[in-house]
Amino acid sequence: MTETVDALRARHLADLAAAATPEAVEAVRVEALGRAGTVTALLRSLGGLDAEERRRVAPRVQALREELAAAIEAKTSALAAAALAARLAAERVDMSLPVVPEPQGSIHPIARVMDELAEIFADLGFAVAEGPEIEDDWHNFTALNIPPEHPARAMHDTFYLEGEPSGRVLRTHTSPVQIRTMTGGRPPIRIIAPGRVYRSDSDATHTPMFHQVEGLVIDRDIHLGHLKWTLETFLKAFFGVQEVVLRLRPSFFPFTEPSVEVDVGCSWEGGRLGIGGSASWLEILGAGMVHPKVLANCGLDPAEWQGFAFGCGIDRLAMLKYGMTDLRAFFDADLRWLRHHGFRALDVPTLSGGMAP
Ligand code: DAH
Repeated sequence: MTETVDALRARHLADLAAAATPEAVEAVRVEALGRAGTVTALLRSLGGLDAEERRRVAPRVQALREELAAAIEAKTSALAAAALAARLAAERVDMSLPVVPEPQGSIHPIARVMDELAEIFADLGFAVAEGPEIEDDWHNFTALNIPPEHPARAMHDTFYLEGEPSGRVLRTHTSPVQIRTMTGGRPPIRIIAPGRVYRSDSDATHTPMFHQVEGLVIDRDIHLGHLKWTLETFLKAFFGVQEVVLRLRPSFFPFTEPSVEVDVGCSWEGGRLGIGGSASWLEILGAGMVHPKVLANCGLDPAEWQGFAFGCGIDRLAMLKYGMTDLRAFFDADLRWLRHHGFRALDVPTLSGGMAP
């Protein structure tokens, strides 16, 4: 009998240890403690023993029953705890993960540069202004002191809209936004106007549609020094450099007097463009003091109000900053190019975060 108790104990505990599921544990319980179980049978058989033998064996069988019951319960709760832990791990929700998959698209370098322009100039107190891309002759030319028959009109390779008696055009520059801003509000004015412009021209450095940003400041006592400081401040922030050297060359635009072409000092060490110094020069924009006739065309008294304006090619700014060589690639919609040169959708430029590439 003693051997039976020990053998049963060893067998059931080994089965229990091997049981990996609640069903296997239950099978051990039924086999040992169930109505037809081995230990139950043993307990029943105690009645057939003589008194002394019973006194000797009964406590051992009882103890075996209790030990197995306790071990089964412990194993059951251990399996339940393990199952819960596995389920919690499997159903874990990472609250820090984005709820939608990573966006697949990217921000086009031109859009990125426009965002950078808005950020930098907003910090200087400039608002962003807009105008229509289909523009009338007056805003695009006449009000800007480019009268009919003026040779500057031919220089612009204008797209004229067919059958338009009033002479509507695809705007050839963002300068008409100057006119719309001055006729639509009162000074002081500080705006930039980024947007699409159109000219009938196409090669590696010209596309029929391209982008410009116009700048306009109208106030009292404005002079060329304000223009130079504004451009320096902009270029330092845009290219992420401590110092820039500007060169203002006399030039001609009908809507500014005096007019300048602005070069920024740069270097080409190892074939790589570096902004700063004056080893070499890059022409980056046209600018000047707003012509008194333009002010008068907009109903402003040139004796009271002065201002400066500038116009700059955004595509060229993007090429210089991000190292692209062919302007046409900007508009090819080649996904490989966009993946390589595009910006992450959530990567919004901020002055505090830094604008440099
Ligand atoms: N509108 C000129 C162009 O497209 C660029 C320009 C030059 C704009 C001088 C200006 C300026 O505001 O002052 O070529």
